[in-house]
Amino acid sequence: MIDEIKNNSSAPEDILDVTLRPLSWDDYIGQDKIKENILIMLQAAKQRKEAPEHLLLYGNPGLGKTTLAYLIAQEVSSEIKVVAGPGIERPGDLVAILTNLEEGSVLFIDEIHRLSRPTEESLYTAMEDFKLNLILGKGPMARTMTLDLPRFTLIGATTKLASVSSPLRTRFGAILGLNFYEEEDIKKILQRSSTLLKISTNEDALNVLSKRSRFTPRVANHLLKRARDYAQIKGEGVLTEYLAKEALLALEIDEFGLTSHDLRILEAMIDKFNGGPVGLQAIAAIIAEEESTILEVYEPYLMRLGFIERTPRGRVATSLAFQHLKKKIPTILNEKQLFNL
Ligand code: ADE
Repeated sequence: MIDEIKNNSSAPEDILDVTLRPLSWDDYIGQDKIKENILIMLQAAKQRKEAPEHLLLYGNPGLGKTTLAYLIAQEVSSEIKVVAGPGIERPGDLVAILTNLEEGSVLFIDEIHRLSRPTEESLYTAMEDFKLNLILGKGPMARTMTLDLPRFTLIGATTKLASVSSPLRTRFGAILGLNFYEEEDIKKILQRSSTLLKISTNEDALNVLSKRSRFTPRVANHLLKRARDYAQIKGEGVLTEYLAKEALLALEIDEFGLTSHDLRILEAMIDKFNGGPVGLQAIAAIIAEEESTILEVYEPYLMRLGFIERTPRGRVATSLAFQHLKKKIPTILNEKQLFNL
């Protein structure tokens, strides 16, 4: 049984996302190593008749951390409660959530690195001993009370593993990282989604979309829906390669899936710093973007494409980035910065 306490919106996009979410492990494409590790953990726990150990999933946004949590809950035939770290402001909020769990429930905490410190600290004994220590009252009259909790499995998700404190991290039985998907896997996801959404399209159109999907299923499905709209309005409803390209042009997404945000980062590095090395802070200041957004959203993809490299002295734009932006590569940068760092 699935009990969502966060995703209770019924906006059209949410309905579509739920429609596209894989409902079985066979539907879940890619991430083979993680899938295998999770299935072994679940099977072993089932044999021992225990709740599976707590699990921490990390990876860039849109790679399927929530989807995995749903599949895990389904595999152990449990209800799932989904909450977001920043939404659990006070330890009292956590008490309400934990005491309402059923035996064997899965609790999914998204953005677990954003829990407040007191909330996080209350979670320690809950994870370890399935007990909650409550402090009632204040000052000399304060008393502690211990509440027994049902045995539950916590699945934490984060885009920033380094921001999860060490005491919290060590309380998870396994920490698993999701990688960018292979382009072939993105293509399979798009094929499945277009069947589910009854979109008439062809392989060439799906190739166009998968190349621009940032190796990320959520982006792929988003582009598919926008391209479907475009084909419906500007074409005759069939999503062809031409219409897919036109749709992405209209969305200002280039042939590598780069948006104006990514291009601004590369331009700042190249035009203002000759390609670097340059610190994250300086890039963020120039393009007026949060450092954390650059770090979590844009940079991983630019690194995966080989457009940015991280060096001990800062970020450098590689020759591939110069070529993509049709910028002349300065000779000094070629020798000193790009290849010898
Ligand atoms: N949608 C999001 N992630 C997916 C995956 N790994 N496989 C299939 N569909 C998905």
